Amino acid sequence: MTFLFNSDARRGAIFREVLARELPDLPFEIDPAKVEADDVRYMITWLVPPNLGIYRNLEILFSIGAGVDQFNASSVPAQAKIVRMVEDGIIRMMQEYVTLAVLALHRNWPIYLDQQRQQQWRAVPQPQAQERRVGVLGLGMLGQAVLERLQPFGFPLSGWSRNPRAIEGVTTHHGADGLDLLLSTTDILICLLPLTEETRGLLNAELLAKLPRGAALVQTGRGAQLDQAALLAALDDGHLSGAVLDVTDPEPLPADHPLWRHPRVLITPHVASVTQPESAALAVARNIKRHRAGLAPVGLVDRSRGY
Ligand code: NDP
Ligand code: OXD
Repeated sequence: MTFLFNSDARRGAIFREVLARELPDLPFEIDPAKVEADDVRYMITWLVPPNLGIYRNLEILFSIGAGVDQFNASSVPAQAKIVRMVEDGIIRMMQEYVTLAVLALHRNWPIYLDQQRQQQWRAVPQPQAQERRVGVLGLGMLGQAVLERLQPFGFPLSGWSRNPRAIEGVTTHHGADGLDLLLSTTDILICLLPLTEETRGLLNAELLAKLPRGAALVQTGRGAQLDQAALLAALDDGHLSGAVLDVTDPEPLPADHPLWRHPRVLITPHVASVTQPESAALAVARNIKRHRAGLAPVGLVDRSRGY
């Protein structure tokens, strides 16, 4: 029985140490050439290795990130559970990033950064937080954590999910009708949806048009959810006032892509949150203990939903 770590050596060293402490009976290996394929019960990786089928006794395939859209679930042996990363570091970093992005948009930073480049000293009207409605697409681990962190600022908050969810202090919506309602009452829209067949291309021209004039977007889900041409058109005709993009399609954008230089767009290189190896290794150890005790791992992916 072996745990195979398929990622960078720096994080591997930390995983090795934490798992040796938490699960001393579980051999740990980074080099696949050094293990008998039939001994591998657990693997953590970002991408599914092309030879995954040789691990016939794999019980859990862990994603080293929160998303699992990079896995082709049909190439993962049917008996193996797929588990996404649920750990404090990812949550904390996403709370920081989205709070930063919402405050930047709320306080007109794209406009002031542009004015600074042109040496212009000009105040623009500043709505109060109570007048700036923030809506979150996706009310999972990250959507809920972000809403909790935004509460003290006083923004009216709403959120959208597939199934009905109740969150104190947040107006929640679900389903297609719920989406339209959320969009019509949102000034800063945050996308924290997983990439699935249903969410691919969801942020298109039709959806952006349903936001009030002057609204802004924070895209921290996956690049393929956003129609980037539609975003540019909405920014250029003034329907949208700004966007913060942590994910794009492709990553990075080509050098001549107009989003790079758009005065109302802030781009970061997919860094909103990054798995922290100490807390991630502990989360994985806890999940292996749960699995051994016959309990479902935290972050178990429902293959039929794709998240
Ligand atoms: P979760 O699985 O915990 O939550 C997903 C949420 O999205 C759920 O509330 C779910 O609804 C909702 N949802 C999914 N599909 C639909 C749909 N078709 N219609 C409406 N709601 C839907 O995911 P996380 O919060 O952990 O992560 C979300 C995503 O954030 C990740 O998949 C990843 O793509 C992205 N991410 C980005 C990072 C970055 O650095 N930019 C870092 C980490 C993650 P329901 O509650 O009803 O199931
Ligand atoms: C993740 C990511 O899914 O970094 O964890 O995007």
